[in-house]
Amino acid sequence: MNYISLSKNDLNKEKDKMLKKYEELKKLNLKLNMARGKPSPEQVNLSRAALDAVNSKTNFITKDGSDCLNYGVLDGLLELKEIFTPVLGVNKEQIFVGGNSSLSMMFDVISFFMTSGVCGSEPWIKQGQIKFLCPCPGYDRHFAILKHFNIKAIPIIMTNTGPDMDTIERLVTNDKSIKGIWCVPKYSNPQGITYSDETVKRFARLKPAAKDFRIFWDNAYAIHDLTETPEKLLNIMTECEKNNSKDLPIIFCSTSKITFPGAGVAFLGASENNIKEIKKMYSVKTIGFDKINQLRHARYFKKYEGLINHMNKHRAILKPKFDIVVNTLKNEFVENKIISFTEPKGGYFVSVDVMDGCAKRVVDLCKKVGLVLTEAGATFPNGIDNNDSNIRIAPSYPSVEELKTAMSVFCVCVKLAVLEKILEN
Ligand SMILES: Cc1ncc(COP(=O)(O)O)c(C=O)c1O
Repeated sequence: MNYISLSKNDLNKEKDKMLKKYEELKKLNLKLNMARGKPSPEQVNLSRAALDAVNSKTNFITKDGSDCLNYGVLDGLLELKEIFTPVLGVNKEQIFVGGNSSLSMMFDVISFFMTSGVCGSEPWIKQGQIKFLCPCPGYDRHFAILKHFNIKAIPIIMTNTGPDMDTIERLVTNDKSIKGIWCVPKYSNPQGITYSDETVKRFARLKPAAKDFRIFWDNAYAIHDLTETPEKLLNIMTECEKNNSKDLPIIFCSTSKITFPGAGVAFLGASENNIKEIKKMYSVKTIGFDKINQLRHARYFKKYEGLINHMNKHRAILKPKFDIVVNTLKNEFVENKIISFTEPKGGYFVSVDVMDGCAKRVVDLCKKVGLVLTEAGATFPNGIDNNDSNIRIAPSYPSVEELKTAMSVFCVCVKLAVLEKILEN
């Protein structure tokens, strides 16, 4: 059935049918959550053995002779850097290993640049109203950092090869107040888009008007593949080296969705110049991060191949969940073209666009029957989705059974909201 071509009479009949289904759902007292991209308990349990990788009997002396039980080694353990070199796509000298969260490192770096400037430039806070480019839909917590520092967010349209590079090039080359851009280059949050080779090359070729412009390359889903044929992201650092622009990118990733969210290890990759600067600033903030946790991760994974084997186990748990979401949407909306959605090959989200003006209503309808979704608008700066159409679905946390129920609730709510909208117009 295609709602767009129905008569008013038939639309009303269909709406009554959906209302009846909705009332039935209410009686179930459901408590479901597809809001945040959290690994499920089953996934987190995959890493329990890592907790045994160090204990009271462990030799805590690292490869280069440092003692993990004491102060020191601000930039992190060599053995861990070696394992993560291919993930970050930089060499060991270009890695800084941090604490438990890459988001907090992004916050730190922006905070450092605000107060101390970027490699000798005037502190951002002294430069008046500065701006960041924000490919949209995007990650709400990136936007929250900008809001915190009063940095103006400029939305940039996403295409299926990455953000709109024509606009980015035009803005960045002409406006000195643009200091950065957020990028989630592989399996982007929420659309699951991997930037094309050409997009990465164009980023590396950028000639920003601002000398203190940086690309915040948040590669949070670098190895979070859902298929056996991962999408390939071109190495930004290699491209930048070719273009003499290696100070542009600052790369982030973490083990939050590899081992323990909130208790993993975060990494930053950047040129020697940037690393020197960031190290200098971190040396004021801390004497060093948690090396026991770093050693635990290094001893558990042993090498890059260990990491990839571990990710295959995550994939086996996650893939069926993504299949439920995508297949349900396909089945429910095959003729009824009132939504479009992504079919990601990795990452943590499915992005759904419902008919304009319906996203808030869908999220609200879901909430009232016990299904929590990410707030509508959250994927845009300041929570404003001008079309009120984007909804982010996070399938990882619920069990397979819960997810099936959640998706049937979601579909009823989408249909109801869209029927209301068409009838209203
Ligand atoms: C794009 C992106 N970056 C960063 C994070 C948070 O990472 P961390 O736990 O390392 O702070 C997330 C979590 O959902 C994310 O989606």
